[in-house]
Amino acid sequence: MEFSIKQSIPDKQRSNCVVVGVYEGGKLSPAAQIIDKAAKHAISDLIAHGDMSGKSATTLLVHKLPGISAERVLLVGLGKADELNNKATVSILRAAFSALNNTPAKDATLYLIDEGVGKDAATSTSSGQVWTIRQAVFAAAESVYRSDALKSKPAKAATLKNITFATLDKPASALKSALEQAAAVSHGMDLAKTLGNLPGNVCTPTYLAAAAQTLGKAHKSIKTTVLEEKDMRKLGMGSLLSVTQGSEQPAKLITLEYHGADKKHKPIVLVGKGITFDSGGISLKPGAEMDEMKYDMCGAASVLGTIQAIAEMGLKINVVGVIPTCENLPSGKAIKPGDIVTSMSGQTIEILNTDAEGRLILCDALTYSKKFNPDTVIDIATLTGACVIALGHVASGMFSNDDKLARELLAAGDQSHDRIWQLPLWEDYQPLIDSNFADMQNIGGRAGGTITAACFLARFTKDYRWAHLDIAGTAWKSGKEKGATGRPVPLLTQYLINRAQKP
Ligand code: BES
Ligand code: MN
Ligand code: ZN
Repeated sequence: MEFSIKQSIPDKQRSNCVVVGVYEGGKLSPAAQIIDKAAKHAISDLIAHGDMSGKSATTLLVHKLPGISAERVLLVGLGKADELNNKATVSILRAAFSALNNTPAKDATLYLIDEGVGKDAATSTSSGQVWTIRQAVFAAAESVYRSDALKSKPAKAATLKNITFATLDKPASALKSALEQAAAVSHGMDLAKTLGNLPGNVCTPTYLAAAAQTLGKAHKSIKTTVLEEKDMRKLGMGSLLSVTQGSEQPAKLITLEYHGADKKHKPIVLVGKGITFDSGGISLKPGAEMDEMKYDMCGAASVLGTIQAIAEMGLKINVVGVIPTCENLPSGKAIKPGDIVTSMSGQTIEILNTDAEGRLILCDALTYSKKFNPDTVIDIATLTGACVIALGHVASGMFSNDDKLARELLAAGDQSHDRIWQLPLWEDYQPLIDSNFADMQNIGGRAGGTITAACFLARFTKDYRWAHLDIAGTAWKSGKEKGATGRPVPLLTQYLINRAQKP
């Protein structure tokens, strides 16, 4: 899908479909007024006859209006002007693209960026227009995304190919760069979704390593390195290696180094959990919905998607992706509850539940990350079912040992509408993971499960500024709409864009 932005005149615009907004109660948006006048009040007539109420996220398609150059006009309900908040804006954009995909239009011109939508998001860092254009690109990309690579007869690809965002005045340069960046983010989300949706028998640790190598080949600015189990053994990664013990697939430790700025700038390191299938191991999970544990590598997929996006943008910043990846399976060789292992940091861990494996692979990857002399380290993981109970499927959980980093991530979440919510990392929780036999145990009981998991990671991240994102509730959708969401690629990329702008 191609995106562009330009100033243009609604009635003169040659296009398969022009999209304009109509408010509830019959008020027309400025672009709709121009169309209405050129088409001898055809739109006012439709409204007067009750064909279009203007209610939020409703649509009406009309053909061959007299005096209009475009083949079709799609009217989109904007609701009441004073209720046009962020949530409404997103659903209006989704409705517009869903309606467009029900037409044979190959290209479309949308006059929706001018209409004051997304005004709640207008901040000192981005205007409502910038916010809206980002969401429009995400909605467009989502509306044509297909996950049919493994169907014998792939679904028909979407016909909609070219999207023009049109404005009545000359678009600001900030709007143009936001559009280019959002397009790159949407490509990164597509990659993260595609990898996430692949089954565990296809998307193995070896497959993820190959995907990382492919990124390294496609972009001169990315250098990919893959460590094997023997390398990890030399580094003393006893915790990571204990998780892969029960699996026939070899574990990998993938690093992607993106160089967009001078070498003297310390990198931001992104560490992504890459469990390509989580059965729970000897602490086996119940059978229902166990298939969804193929998504336990969505943290890794978001790191790959984010690095692809910033490479496509040519962002002036240094970023390293670190991906520990393996399977968590039961076998005669698998780790058992009660086993004690030694992590790369030297700290010992009593494994009381083999299903709390994410923290066991992340802790060694977090220790390994020190070698990059990081400015900041952010890990991304589908870490705890408890996070889904706490925050549902709307916000990802966020923890940080640095208040400024936490604030910057929260702001990036609002700007990208890929939102997070901060939870406490207080010392008071730490005793819950003390062990009688080792330096710590890998679970802290049912209470505060998301927090004790973060507290475990905090014991390995004392030497640098760090944040942890628990994406268990946001990385994929279940049920009829089952599929990866591409989150938190928008959040991570926005954070990196913001960081790149600052010295
Ligand atoms: N990958 C899971 C977390 C998960 C579960 C994410 C369900 C999304 C949906 C993780 O490895 C896990 O199994 N965590 C355990 C931890 C527990 C044993 C302390 C969990 O959440 O049940
Ligand atoms: Mn698990
Ligand atoms: Zn897991």
